[in-house]
Amino acid sequence: MILETQRLSKVYSVGQEKIPALRGVDFHASAGDFIVINGPSGSGKSTFLNLIACVDRHSEGEVLIEGQATSKLSENQLAELRKRKIGLVFQSFNLIPVLSAYENVEYPLLLLGVNSSERQRRVMGLLEEVGIKDLAKRRPDELSGGQRQRVAIARSLVTEPKLVLADEPTANLDSETGKQVMSIMRRLNEDHKVAFLVVTHDPVVTQYAERTVKIRDGQLTEENSHVVAYSAA
Ligand SMILES: Nc1ncnc2c1ncn2[C@@H]1O[C@H](COP(=O)(O)OP(=O)(O)O)[C@@H](O)[C@H]1O
Ligand SMILES: [Mg+2]
Repeated sequence: MILETQRLSKVYSVGQEKIPALRGVDFHASAGDFIVINGPSGSGKSTFLNLIACVDRHSEGEVLIEGQATSKLSENQLAELRKRKIGLVFQSFNLIPVLSAYENVEYPLLLLGVNSSERQRRVMGLLEEVGIKDLAKRRPDELSGGQRQRVAIARSLVTEPKLVLADEPTANLDSETGKQVMSIMRRLNEDHKVAFLVVTHDPVVTQYAERTVKIRDGQLTEENSHVVAYSAA
């Protein structure tokens, strides 16, 4: 089991007001899963991913990554875990504007101290896999939305994580580009045996799921498990 949450809860405090964003979520993902969590705006999707990624602290319950309870880890241990085991993909791509596509993908490897020939091997390999090897020298503002998201997907995988978390990865893309991006994620999921957890309110994304889960008002309900056909991008 790569990921498990136990009775995971998050209450935001705004002044006197308490906002329960997540209400006791039990969830698990196995190595290599491709799971889509579908829910409307405000249902708790980003909160859930932020707690799993350990960028925000939960109120109650536990997040386990590869069986390790994250609430027992120090800040340094959490930072290591985030760098090595989890990749992130965002709605707004979150690329560094002054760096080229190549340098954006390379960046997490610099933080890990990976040597330059290994960096080059991994970065060029992934840029090729997401179909933008020829655009390696371009900066984000010289790329389309779909190309930027391809860079972000390559970056999320470059550290060879066990789990990639994607927060509404198609929200800023037209539907055709969104489908291409989902096809790429699905193919990388199979080729790299890395688990993907995608949260979205885009019904198109659900077509690519192996397992679909619904989120409403901070609670999950399993929808179904199914085998899907998808076309390679
Ligand atoms: N930092 C915050 N402070 C207060 N309330 C928040 C904060 N972040 C999210 N919320 C609230 O928590 C609920 C879930 O939000 P969120 O996880 O962002 O949902 P989603 O990603 O599905 O749109 C919403 O009611 C939202 O207003
Ligand atoms: Mg959100």
